[in-house]
Amino acid sequence: MKPLAHAIVGCGRVAPNHVDGLSALPDAEIRWACDRNLTRAQSLAREHGVPRTTSDPRIVLEDPAVDSVSIAVDHAQHAALATAALEAGKHVLVEKPLALDPRDGTALHALAKRTGRVLSVVSQHRYDPVVTAVRDWIAAGLLGHLVSGTVSLQCGRDADYYAQSYWRGTWAGEGGSALVNQGYHALDVTRWLCGGLTVAGAAAGRTAPRGGMETEDTLAAVLRAPGGALLTYHVTVASGITWRTRIELIGTEGSVLFDLDHPGTLHLAEGGDALRAAARAVIDREAEPAPVGIGYYGISHRRQIADFAAAIRDGHVMAASGEEGLYTLRLLDELYRSARRVDTAPAPGPAEAAAGADLVASVAVRG
Ligand SMILES: NC(=O)c1ccc[n+]([C@@H]2O[C@H](COP(=O)([O-])OP(=O)(O)OC[C@H]3O[C@@H](n4cnc5c(N)ncnc54)[C@H](O)[C@@H]3O)[C@@H](O)[C@H]2O)c1
Repeated sequence: MKPLAHAIVGCGRVAPNHVDGLSALPDAEIRWACDRNLTRAQSLAREHGVPRTTSDPRIVLEDPAVDSVSIAVDHAQHAALATAALEAGKHVLVEKPLALDPRDGTALHALAKRTGRVLSVVSQHRYDPVVTAVRDWIAAGLLGHLVSGTVSLQCGRDADYYAQSYWRGTWAGEGGSALVNQGYHALDVTRWLCGGLTVAGAAAGRTAPRGGMETEDTLAAVLRAPGGALLTYHVTVASGITWRTRIELIGTEGSVLFDLDHPGTLHLAEGGDALRAAARAVIDREAEPAPVGIGYYGISHRRQIADFAAAIRDGHVMAASGEEGLYTLRLLDELYRSARRVDTAPAPGPAEAAAGADLVASVAVRG
C-alpha cells in the first residue's frame, strides 16, 4: 500500500504536533513543509527530515503525489487554503477553527462532501482518554440526566504574545481571542459531550487591556444543552497562570470533574458503583508519553491524525469531522453575537474611553 503523502502548510507553534502525529504512523510520510516565511519551513524540515520546502502553498497543492494537507496558519486564512486544497483533490486537516465565518464553514463542508475528500478540524482533546471515557459514561446513563455544568479556562497571555504575532489579538486575523483561540477546546469538547449547546446569554470584555490587542481577553456565557441542562462557561487569557482548564458536568445520578490538559486529569467521578469502577480504570491507566512542543496542547494530535489517516483509507466519519467543526464554529458565532448584544459592559477605564476601544465596539467591527 502506498504511504500517505502529507504536507504541512504553516510551520509555526503547532506544526511540531502535526509532524509528531504523522511521524507516529507506520504508513505515512511528510513530503513538504510550507511556510510563507521560508526560513521557518526550512527549520521544521531540517529538524524532522522533511525532504521538500516551499513558501508557496500552490506548489504543494499542484504536487499530484500529495494526498493530504495540514493547514496550520492564522484563522483568517483557514477557509481560503482549505478550499484550495479540497479543490486540488487533497484531504484536509485544518487547525481550529474551521473558518471565521460560518458561511465559509458551511461551504467547506459541502465542498468536502462533493469532492469525497476527508475534511477534519483539529479538536485533539476529543481523543483524550478522559474525554472519551466521560462521553461513554454519559451515553451509558451513568450520570443520569444532565442538569448543570461549569466550564472554565484560565490562562495568561502577556503583551508580547500579541505584539509579536501578525494575527493574534486582531479581529481580522484571529476573529476574537480568548473564546475562539484558547477557549475553543473546552467549548468544543463540552458541546460534544452534551450533544449540542445553544447560547442563553454572553458577555465579553477586555478586562486587563494590553498593547496590540483589540479583541476580548475574557468571555462569560450561559449555555443550554438539548435536554435542558444549564451550564456556565468562562474563559480568560488575563490570568496570572499559564494554563488551567476545568469541566464539571452534573447529572441526576452522577457528577464528573476533569481537566483538558496533559495528561487529562479526572478529579472526581461521584455516582453509582458502575461510575466509580469506570473512573478507577481511567485513574489507573498507564501514563501517557510526554507531548512534543507546548505541553498543554497534549498528545492527542497523534490520535486525531491516526483517525484522519484511517478515515482517508476506509471512509469512516471522524469524531473531529468537518461537520462537527462547523457546529462548533456556529456556536462560536452565536456566542460572539450574543456578547455584541450586551449593552451593560463595564465602563472602560479612562485610557480605554479615550481610545473608544471597548469590546462592544470591536465586536461591531467584526460584522
Ligand atoms: N490544536 C491546538 O491545541 C492548537 C495549538 C496552537 C495553535 N493552534 C491553531 O493552529 C493554527 C496556527 O497557530 P500557530 O500557533 O502555529 O501560529 P503561528 O503564528 O505560530 O504560525 C503560523 C505560521 O503560518 C505561516 N503562514 C501564514 N500564512 C501562510 C500562508 N498563506 N502560506 C504558508 N504559510 C503561512 C506563518 O508564516 C507562520 O509561520 C491556528 O489556527 C491556531 O488556532 C491549535
